[in-house]
Amino acid sequence: MDTRRALLDALVDGPVSGPALAEDLGVSRAAVWKAVESLREEGFAVESAGDGYVAPEDPGYSAAGIEFGLDVPYVIEYHDRVSSTNDRARELAAGGADGIAVVADEQTGSRGRLDREWVAPSGGVWLSFAIRPDAPPARAPLFTLAAAVATADACREAGVDAHIKWPNDVLVGGSASGTDTDADPTGRGGRKVAGILTEMEGEADRISWIVPGVGVNANIDAEALPAGAASLQEELGEPVDRRRFAATLLERFAALAGTPDRMDRILPAWRERASTLGRRVRVDTSNGAVTGTAVDVEPPGALVIETDEGIRRVHAGDCEHLRDTGD
Ligand code: BTN
Repeated sequence: MDTRRALLDALVDGPVSGPALAEDLGVSRAAVWKAVESLREEGFAVESAGDGYVAPEDPGYSAAGIEFGLDVPYVIEYHDRVSSTNDRARELAAGGADGIAVVADEQTGSRGRLDREWVAPSGGVWLSFAIRPDAPPARAPLFTLAAAVATADACREAGVDAHIKWPNDVLVGGSASGTDTDADPTGRGGRKVAGILTEMEGEADRISWIVPGVGVNANIDAEALPAGAASLQEELGEPVDRRRFAATLLERFAALAGTPDRMDRILPAWRERASTLGRRVRVDTSNGAVTGTAVDVEPPGALVIETDEGIRRVHAGDCEHLRDTGD
């Protein structure tokens, strides 16, 4: 573990003196001082009190801030501004890196699914994992579903009642049943607060690397949001703590997809948070539209739709929640 990270861990339980840190970490006092200075430069304002170094009350949205007190198998690479966290994570993963979460405040060239534009101004939580899991490509969709569950959980922990639309949109507002309500006058199931773009490279039997990229409209003003989108800030009436949000997202993702033995938990967790199941849907696939009632999601993430012609399974496509009557 590097000195900065070990130092952050050591400060979680309260003040620690410089000499005690040097001894605990097995480094020189000069190395402790250098690590403290480097954290301060990054905005993690370590204070020097009478009884030693003290962590800041608000550790801030930065690599050190997000890592503070967090026990996950990911190292954070933080950028105030980057073209696309997915592009950066792909670059890292293709170079052999494993277990990195690239986080940014602002993206200037971010992408959505199907090469769509994704607007990512300052104030969002833009986060992409660079991971090299021991899994076949057939399991790749599970990483997307896990990222959607982790994002929905982080929204809920922040006080926003989010739910998932198959396969990977996180929505707020809307009725689960598809009937009209004040919060969802169209009955179509809510406004999008987050989306996920997963990219990967692999061979027939092995994922080389996979990059699940999560875009969350966190502290974004209403005027900067695309039509049909929502932000956590607009929902809560105040800014969300992005450091805590990102930490929760990372923790939840690790709990579901951090090791292969945990991945059985993903589908049940997804089902519990989904608003798609039990609803009438239309999924636009490359083979045309499939309309019916969504009844289940099956490994590794196919949506099972009961249509007038029988059961259909769709693996990819744009899903629209329909009103229960009409459409
Ligand atoms: C979608 O179309 O719904 C998926 C949007 C995914 C956007 C995120 S933001 C972080 C990461 N970097 C990108 O360039 N895209 C993803």
